[in-house]
Amino acid sequence: MFDLEEILSHYGVYGKVEGESVGPLIKQIRFKPKAGTKMKNITSAIDDIAREMGVKNLRVSNVCEGGCIGFEIANDVFETVALENVLASKQAQQAKGALPINLGVAIDGSPVFADLAKMPHLLVAGATGSGKSVGLNAFIISLIKRKKPEELKFVMIDPKRIEFSVYNDQKYMLMPVITDNADASAALQLLVDEMNKRYERFEKSLTKNIEEYNQKEGSMFYIVAVVDEFSDLVLTDKTVEKKIQMLAQKARAAGIHLILATQRPSVDVVTGSIKANFPSRLAFKTASGVDSKTILDATGAEDLVGRGDALFLAANGQLSRIHGAYISTEGIEEILKPYRCRVKPLLKAQSQVASTAADVQTQKPQKKQFFLIRWAKSVWNFLSKTEKKKFLKMIWLLLIGAFVGAKTKNKSSEIFESIADTLTKPKRRTRTAQTKRKTTHRR
Ligand SMILES: Nc1ncnc2c1ncn2[C@@H]1O[C@H](COP(=O)(O)OP(=O)(O)O)[C@@H](O)[C@H]1O
Ligand SMILES: [Mg+2]
Repeated sequence: MFDLEEILSHYGVYGKVEGESVGPLIKQIRFKPKAGTKMKNITSAIDDIAREMGVKNLRVSNVCEGGCIGFEIANDVFETVALENVLASKQAQQAKGALPINLGVAIDGSPVFADLAKMPHLLVAGATGSGKSVGLNAFIISLIKRKKPEELKFVMIDPKRIEFSVYNDQKYMLMPVITDNADASAALQLLVDEMNKRYERFEKSLTKNIEEYNQKEGSMFYIVAVVDEFSDLVLTDKTVEKKIQMLAQKARAAGIHLILATQRPSVDVVTGSIKANFPSRLAFKTASGVDSKTILDATGAEDLVGRGDALFLAANGQLSRIHGAYISTEGIEEILKPYRCRVKPLLKAQSQVASTAADVQTQKPQKKQFFLIRWAKSVWNFLSKTEKKKFLKMIWLLLIGAFVGAKTKNKSSEIFESIADTLTKPKRRTRTAQTKRKTTHRR
């Protein structure tokens, strides 16, 4: 075993070890330096200190309880944190906010929750195999455990095709999992349109955001769009970045939130405009210090140990180390069992339009018809509960009207004649309408 105090003294750093905590992946030793110690003296000699300690993956953190510096060393044996246990914890029940997600556990093993609604979007990066997909699943499942399918819908974009297939045909899906770049771009556009529609509805109902609207008018569901690997999308379609930017800037009040993940956090993917609009970021182990700097504006993520080990940069600028909780595909399937249903492909017509854009013009009118049907369906889906109720009530009254009309036809030839008159003479139609309105009023 090494003597940290002695090793540090070799580099002119003096102080006292105050304690340590052992988490599932790392041990943190808290070192209280003498007053006047410069952090720079430690960070500049970090590789030599690690060598003398005989450890790999040494990370120092200057935000530690009691004004200490934390020396974080990987454990010999890694424990897996089960998402199931984390979601059953006291902290999970106490987690506040509209969309609490579990980020994992802190160094001391206590579950860490954060409200996606406040983040209000999350950028995730990390090298292949660092735990991004497991992390995204943990976020999705924490939300599913907390919200009913009518309160929350997901849009999932998965160009790799395998990560999210388990979520297909679930009540929580706004549309089937998207695996195609053109569809992904169309889906983002659909979200932008939906956001604008929601703002119009807020305007009409004199509300400002989804919380106020839901209190006043009824149910508007949250939408969380999760993209597992957005680098290709941004690089192949120039409009994607603009759409992401629009959503990131304005969609929060409309209850639309984004979680974007990439294994390629280079500056052409995680651009300045994306970074400016995503203050909350999560870095799993990155391939290099440069990648860590791109995503977190600080190095350190390259020294993480992998397997869900991550650094979370909160919107307030605070950086903390977190170990992601694990859930297997079988575990996800088990949780999703009660929510199985057919999900209509909202985007199908759109992708067909995109892929056959160069098709002969003669096919255009037919497609227009498809578009209208699809439009009507999506309008129905986006109507609020109260609006749907009002619409159904109207249909119901019309049916009652027709039924009463048909009954009285047999009994009284006079009424029958008057109905026949109403049908043939447009003038009398007003009268029938008035009678109908009276019936409604009385009810
Ligand atoms: N939080 C975690 N706890 C335990 N093992 C994990 C965790 N996250 C990832 N792993 C392990 O690492 C493997 C790769 O994780 P994955 O999420 O697929 O990485 P990525 O999406 O970044 O390529 C997983 O199959 C799992 O074995
Ligand atoms: Mg992955």
